[in-house]
Amino acid sequence: MTRVLVLNGPNLGRLGSREPEVYGSASHAELVAAAGVWGAELGLEVQVRQSDDESELVGWLHEAVDTSTHVVLNPAAFTHYSYALRDAAAQVTTAGLQLIEVHLSNPYAREAFRHVSVIGPVATGTVAGFGFGSYALALRAVAERTGSHKH
Ligand code: DQA
Repeated sequence: MTRVLVLNGPNLGRLGSREPEVYGSASHAELVAAAGVWGAELGLEVQVRQSDDESELVGWLHEAVDTSTHVVLNPAAFTHYSYALRDAAAQVTTAGLQLIEVHLSNPYAREAFRHVSVIGPVATGTVAGFGFGSYALALRAVAERTGSHKH
């Protein structure tokens, strides 16, 4: 089965209580549950993780490379300035694996500092602005690009 790691960066563990007008009122636990359902529908084995720690996220990207696992990544604020995460993300796509950058909100409709993504240039593609739907669309992209939805 095609494996996908869904990785969420800093403050995303606070989903539901953090700025619900921007990020919605559903919790991270609800995202984990929803991603499991979408994955099952798409024939993907999905594991969702969240960390506020840059080095932990870098380690998980290394793990993805070493285990040939595709990645859906919401780098959160690291999107805008973490070259360490960018370099780790680049190893995923260079290895021929999918790395889809996702955002709940549409960063381009927000503050100027959110208009830059250092991850985007090394990602397979980016989905932003659809709330939890961004993750559903990203998983669908992985399924279609790996052919796993046909099995
Ligand atoms: C975010 C957008 C980022 O700018 C922000 O720092 C986040 C969440 C999103 O999902 O919309 O923490 O990645």
